[in-house]
Amino acid sequence: MLERKHLQTLEGYVSGFQPTWNNDLIKLNSNENPYPPSPKIKDYFKDFNFDQLRFYPNAKSDSLRECIANIYDIDVENIFCGNGSDEIISLLFRGFFEENSSVIIPYPTYTLYETVAKIHDVNTICIDTEEDFSIDVDKILSSSKKAAGIVIVNPNAPTGILLSVEKIKFILNQFKGLVILDEAYIDFADENSSCLQLIKTYPNLIVLRTLSKSYSLCGIRLGYCFASKDIISILDKIKDSYNINTITQLLAEEGLKDRAYFNHNLEKVKSTRTRLGHELVNLGFDIYGQNANFLLCKPNNGLEAKAIYDYLAEPNIFIRYFDQPRLADKLRISIGTEKEIDILLINLHKLVREKGMSFESSV
Ligand SMILES: Cc1ncc(COP(=O)(O)O)c(C=O)c1O
Repeated sequence: MLERKHLQTLEGYVSGFQPTWNNDLIKLNSNENPYPPSPKIKDYFKDFNFDQLRFYPNAKSDSLRECIANIYDIDVENIFCGNGSDEIISLLFRGFFEENSSVIIPYPTYTLYETVAKIHDVNTICIDTEEDFSIDVDKILSSSKKAAGIVIVNPNAPTGILLSVEKIKFILNQFKGLVILDEAYIDFADENSSCLQLIKTYPNLIVLRTLSKSYSLCGIRLGYCFASKDIISILDKIKDSYNINTITQLLAEEGLKDRAYFNHNLEKVKSTRTRLGHELVNLGFDIYGQNANFLLCKPNNGLEAKAIYDYLAEPNIFIRYFDQPRLADKLRISIGTEKEIDILLINLHKLVREKGMSFESSV
């Protein structure tokens, strides 16, 4: 064995099934945005100066950070850009947690945190969420005495449950280690749900964002985070020299600047989410948080989650099944276009009919 000892049992991050793309697929398994990115991005390529690609990219994504600073009203020195927020998560563990230190992670949550902790030989203290998947901040705090950090994904994935700004402040007022607040899905939640502006008050808070979900840009890999200048300066020191390629820096800026398109898309996704939620309830599913671009649901109609997953995969409709404690009887469905959700619902109705169950519906 040539690898480091603690990596010998590492399983690695398991992403949702990524089928080869074709137009017949309905892909609702990775929380991608069903709509294309801003048309300004396509336009941008029309006059793109390919000559510039012979130069290295701007090392700190300066222009992009300026753009982010203007949109979010945060000083540019409090912003760091990463090759997806996944890169930032790795850098945070690399830069801020000693080997054998401990980090609190609610369960369930985005599983990459657990994987990255293992890679860096950091222990995780998993705090089970409540029966309804809400996070009990008292439980988190009472386990935090020896912890170097707390991770909160808000809204949480895969539950979609949102923790209030007040509850996050409650944590920040008592815990002085690093608080990583991953707001990958916050744009799909109600306005004023974000804790972003709290970085101005709490020097131990890091807020993560990504263009992967609400901006339809997971293909260009751009995540960013907001934190105190001290934290940002450490990230700057430990990142790869040119971590964001030139094309990503330019396209990210175009995508971010098109506010009208962004807001319009958000409204479409949210409205489809409401509709899907109603339909799932009518079909006999329980649903959990409705704050992200996905719904976690549990069939309470005699159907098995895994059987539904397999049934839908047959006509190329891919949703997410997690063979994990507390999730194996549930399914996570990313919000698709209205048409994709129509097809999903038609197939769910067909399945219910085949199994001889009947539920009211408007489809
Ligand atoms: C909670 C959460 N954080 C971060 C990410 C990764 O985002 P990115 O595509 O920017 O690496 C995901 C991806 O699904 C996620 O669910």
